[in-house]
Amino acid sequence: MDSSGPVGPGCRGGALSARPECSPHPSDSTQLVQECLKQFEVTEAQLRQIQASLLGSMEQALLGQNGPAPAVRMLPAYVGSTPHGTEQGDFVVLELGATGASLRVLWVTLTGTEGSRVEPRSREFVIPPDVMLGPGQQLFDFAARCLAEFLEALPVHSRTLPLGFNFSFPCHQTGLDQSTLISWTKGFKCSDVEGQDVVRLLREALKRQGVTSLSVVAVVNDTVGTMMGCDPGLGPCEVGLVVDTGTNACYMEEARHVAALDEDRGRVCVSVEWGSFGDDRALGLVLTPFDHALDLESLNPGAQRFEKLIGGLYLGELVRLVLAHLAQHGLLFGGCTPPALLSRGTLGLEHVAELQDPSAGTARVLTVLQSLGLSPGASDVGLVQSVCMAVSTRAARLCATALAAVLGRLQHSREQQALQLSVATGGRVLARLPRFRSLLQETVMLLAPECSVTFIPSEDGGGRGVAVVTAVAARLAAHRCLLEETLAPFRLDQEQLVVVQAQMREAMAQGLRGEASSLRMLPTYVRATPDGSERGDFLALDLGGTHFRVLLVRVAAGGVQITSQVYAIPEQVAQGTGRQLFDHIVDCIVDFQQRQGLSGQSLPLGFTFSFPCRQLGLDQGILLTWTKGFNASDCEGQDVVTLLREAIGRRQAVELNVVAIVNDTVGTMMSCGYEDHRCEVGLIVGTGTNACYMEELQNVAGVPGDSGRMCINMEWGAFGDDGRLSVPSTCFDASVDRASINPGKQRFEKLISGMYLGEIVRHILLHLNSLGVLFRGQQTQRLQSRDIFKTKFLSEIESDSLALRQVRAILEDLGLPLTSDDALVVREVCQAVSRRAAQLCGAGVAAVVEKIRENRGLEELAVTVGVDGTLYKLHPHFSSLVADTVRALAPRCAVTFLQSEDGSGKGAALVTAVACRLAQMARV
Ligand code: BG6
Ligand code: GLC
Ligand code: GLC
Repeated sequence: MDSSGPVGPGCRGGALSARPECSPHPSDSTQLVQECLKQFEVTEAQLRQIQASLLGSMEQALLGQNGPAPAVRMLPAYVGSTPHGTEQGDFVVLELGATGASLRVLWVTLTGTEGSRVEPRSREFVIPPDVMLGPGQQLFDFAARCLAEFLEALPVHSRTLPLGFNFSFPCHQTGLDQSTLISWTKGFKCSDVEGQDVVRLLREALKRQGVTSLSVVAVVNDTVGTMMGCDPGLGPCEVGLVVDTGTNACYMEEARHVAALDEDRGRVCVSVEWGSFGDDRALGLVLTPFDHALDLESLNPGAQRFEKLIGGLYLGELVRLVLAHLAQHGLLFGGCTPPALLSRGTLGLEHVAELQDPSAGTARVLTVLQSLGLSPGASDVGLVQSVCMAVSTRAARLCATALAAVLGRLQHSREQQALQLSVATGGRVLARLPRFRSLLQETVMLLAPECSVTFIPSEDGGGRGVAVVTAVAARLAAHRCLLEETLAPFRLDQEQLVVVQAQMREAMAQGLRGEASSLRMLPTYVRATPDGSERGDFLALDLGGTHFRVLLVRVAAGGVQITSQVYAIPEQVAQGTGRQLFDHIVDCIVDFQQRQGLSGQSLPLGFTFSFPCRQLGLDQGILLTWTKGFNASDCEGQDVVTLLREAIGRRQAVELNVVAIVNDTVGTMMSCGYEDHRCEVGLIVGTGTNACYMEELQNVAGVPGDSGRMCINMEWGAFGDDGRLSVPSTCFDASVDRASINPGKQRFEKLISGMYLGEIVRHILLHLNSLGVLFRGQQTQRLQSRDIFKTKFLSEIESDSLALRQVRAILEDLGLPLTSDDALVVREVCQAVSRRAAQLCGAGVAAVVEKIRENRGLEELAVTVGVDGTLYKLHPHFSSLVADTVRALAPRCAVTFLQSEDGSGKGAALVTAVACRLAQMARV
């Protein structure tokens, strides 16, 4: 294109449409020039229209209703509060993109509230043009070399310094140190950077250049640095405005209004990116042919149209285009157009500033113009100054309009009619153009009269603010390290799980042989899963899980029909005397019989009793030890069926025929076996955890007979009680164990089951709180209370469908003083604890199915595991993690997990039914 500027319909009224034969008279020139410059005038009505349209675009973008090319981007900046002034330490700041073709490196020392301010040290490096437009890697390598050079002269010693990266381009931030460049703006256009995380690119470059003393911890936009650098002593400053090479603002928005964030509390800094406003033609009203020409010759035609009316990169160019046009029309420089005016970039922001400076006399203006290779006459001076003034006045008024729109947004979101606030300002346009600041202020007052704004110029180009954000980021990074350290022992790798599986296999074999082992491998006298021919009405009891139930189970040709009733077992009963406990159980049975109209009938009864029992037959089970929350006296070592019969005897009114006692794992296997004949394993992951499976009778010591199979109740909850479990036991596990009613017992169960996971999480949270990682380090009394953190919270908190705000609601209900980062930390803790549990459980299942496969001498085994338990069923990821682990550790077994729908009571009834069928057959 012709770089001399717009031709054709240049000035209104056609006054300049043709080049005059000879130069017009000076006073005519003045008039014609003024007429041309009228195009740069923007009326108040137009400003108000732009203000409204920009506000509308901002609100749309906040709602996430952006079209493909949004008018403004409203990018959240991961900065949630303005500085407290307490931040301390040495920081390095790298600034790229704010100021033209240079890059600045600063060393900033923050001294907290007490210390006196230390001036930053800084150095500017000019970026060669080919680096600004070349490959991205070259730009980042250049930056890394500048950093290295800067650090050479400073007392770094062997420290690693936190680095804040002030990167002044539109970016999608996903964390304090994660930011993807959307598109280059201003004078940059390096390849292979758009769509990339610029922090990663900088880190890679530092590595390539051997710079090891810097750790990039935060990335911020220049507007955010400007806002955060504001002296907190002057009151909260909630807007940052930059008018430098480009222009933009950020402000503190209510987080709940930012659709892109999963956050409903507090405020978050949003970078408006108003430079792109008008890319969708909203600026048609004010654009002149000069603006179109400038846009066409820019690196990004069609983009950043608003910025191109205001930013320092463009003001000089606009002035040049107007001057060239006027000269070509004989209105300047004696009618000749000096070559300097025809080439792009001749006039920079500095020239415009100098030409406009009211204190510079005519002589100074002439000197500046001559230095540019122009030949001004005396009459040109005033005209050139008018051109500069027209261009920069329009810029200041448009910038004020945008700021007024931001203030309107703040008023709206704060629901306040009148606002009083400070705006931190930065950038060379504001600092150097003589009337820019006052015009800006006047126009803001005109367009936002309800706002009382104090403008506070930033002192060091936002470097301090970047350091403040970096300090916060460094603190968060330190917290992350502490969190990782705390959770590391919970993270088990495949090798560790293989060891657990092998240890389980060994303990199983020892237990079966009757040797000392933490696995008791108890024979259950259940020899077969149901075959479908069972019939009759049965009573069942189900004791030991979350609920105590009494059931009536009708097994008929059409299937199984169940009626049940849940009864409470108060803690004082569960932990009182055995007599109390069994009397209570019989009371519940009597009540159930009355409600069901069964009084007087003596139905066969199956008793699901979910505790370790040594069985001598189907209807005889000696309680070895209580587990979980039960501890009733005088029961251990006793036959549970006898205890029940004695209690029945004490209530003379009832008659009951106790046929079978069944562990819940066995009940589950039987119940699932009724649906799926391949079900030969029963697994419980609920209040406690355990498994049973069908073992070859010949492998079971102490039970007569060598053929056939018997279901073995492994009682794997006690696995490792002999110290032979190699999983790292954390201090949190130790605390949970110490506080339990059976310290040192049920080690495996205490790593896995619902009764304990919430408590493990609570102990970790207490620890993180004491390290200052959670709840701002404030001691929380609530968290000291035992069992306040229920295992069901893990299931809720880890649910994918739950937004973080819901997670917070759960925690707030517990009375915990959360910040938004805390909710994330708590979720990670829950994930680590439940993942370990699921993996250990999977290693156990892998051991069991592999044993079955080997028992049968099969290459491949297809088997079903019947599963029950609230943790397994309610947790969103537990079941799939178990399955994944089994797949990895027992690749030759195709394992199907079948969830039991009706609880173990149904299984107990089925065991009873099988026993009755066999007894009947024996009698025949
Ligand atoms: C069910 C049983 O199968 O699962 C209970 O009917 C059993 O008796 C339970 O103990 C395990 O789940 P939870 O979560 O209630 O302990
Ligand atoms: C450009 C950038 C923006 C920056 C502004 C001021 O508009 O896109 O991120 O804040 O310039 O430097
Ligand atoms: C405990 C019991 C065990 C039961 C398991 C699941 O580990 O000792 O018998 O199967 O909890 O409820």
